[in-house]
Amino acid sequence: MSRKTEKSDELYSRACELMPGGVSSPVRAFRSVGGSPVYFKRANGARIEDADGNEYVDFCMSWGPLILGHAHPDVIAAVRQAAYDGLSYGACCESEIHLAELILEAEHKMDQVRFVSSGTEAVMTAIRLARGVTDRPRILKFEGGYHGHSDSLLVKAGSGLATFGTSSSLGVPESFAKETMVCALDDEEALKDVFYHFGSELAAAIVEPLPANNGLLEQRPEWLRLLRELCDRHGVLLIFDEVISGFRTRFGTYSDTLGVAADLLTLGKIIGGGMPVGAVVGPRSIMEELAPLGGVYQAGTLSGNPVSLAAGIATLQALKDPAVYEHLEALGSRLDKVLQSVKDELGYVSWRRVGSIVWLYLTEGVIPRAASFIDPVIVKRFNSIYSRLLDKGLYLPPSAYEVMFLSNAHTEDDVERLGSELHEALRGVDA
Ligand SMILES: Cc1ncc(COP(=O)(O)O)c(C=O)c1O
Repeated sequence: MSRKTEKSDELYSRACELMPGGVSSPVRAFRSVGGSPVYFKRANGARIEDADGNEYVDFCMSWGPLILGHAHPDVIAAVRQAAYDGLSYGACCESEIHLAELILEAEHKMDQVRFVSSGTEAVMTAIRLARGVTDRPRILKFEGGYHGHSDSLLVKAGSGLATFGTSSSLGVPESFAKETMVCALDDEEALKDVFYHFGSELAAAIVEPLPANNGLLEQRPEWLRLLRELCDRHGVLLIFDEVISGFRTRFGTYSDTLGVAADLLTLGKIIGGGMPVGAVVGPRSIMEELAPLGGVYQAGTLSGNPVSLAAGIATLQALKDPAVYEHLEALGSRLDKVLQSVKDELGYVSWRRVGSIVWLYLTEGVIPRAASFIDPVIVKRFNSIYSRLLDKGLYLPPSAYEVMFLSNAHTEDDVERLGSELHEALRGVDA
């Protein structure tokens, strides 16, 4: 093995004494791919360096926020200036207005924004708001969707087609979980069934219009339109969770490209440019139900802090230049070509790409649209090449179910390198 790991290993064993599993978020523990986590100490552009001095091309990019690459000069300058002016006021500041204006410029059918500090908080707030506005208890989510770790969303499908959820984490009482219904993606009949039986009890349906947390399960626009129609018919608010997809494929939401509108949007990741920012976005009639105007309570000490907002403003300003998305698309199509040649030779390589989001699906099978159709063989294959890719200086998200992100800082050389190292690594795998 060419890579040194002494420092990362030592840090990990110290961390395991001090923090559960040694980490601040579970996927970082490398449990799904095996081995121990890499500790990073600096990053710039598309490169990230670990504590032992190994350098990698980063295809995880902090799970999506860094569309401009690490430490983009405009973002760093804005953060530095904001930090000099004070890290947090716990009070109103002009940057809130700037970032809200940028978001609403893109989402011009929406009127207002509430800033929070994470995607989890954004979703939690949107759900509470929907329950408050409709005065209904239940929500509907979809199998394979991830919407953060609030109690209502840590719920998986129970048995049956139109199903009451069951908690997917200890500590979430079944009485909470049963207020969340779970339905399969891409299944018209299941959807109609759940609305037929429970439509009048549902406050909201929440979905990632481009589900990107359990593979990349791109949905058919007709299915999303049916969801929209059923929500309208039953007085259910439709929440599009665009924490990943917002500003990822264009300056605005992904759902706009499909022509299906949400009642509420949740954003995160890119709108914070690598700093903790989340947002609920919606029409005035719904948003003004939030405190202090309305009766739905929500608050946050560090919400709308000027340093995080500065990173988001600088990022969105840079994204107004269409050249960024053009570059990302050009990189993506280069990657398509490279992966196609790997597939032509080896067979068992598929992938799905939407803009700069790419999911490697290491089988010859059809890319699924619903979680239950994901072939588990991809896990074995992905895990068997993961550490080899690390040794070759490529850092991918440490799970077969996670997507990769390209950034504006990646080059054609980077994606070609990914293709050729994948090819090499897969050659040695027992297909
Ligand atoms: C679609 C979606 N919603 C919500 C979240 C939760 O966001 P956060 O991790 O910022 O709490 C995520 C996180 O990956 C996400 O992908």
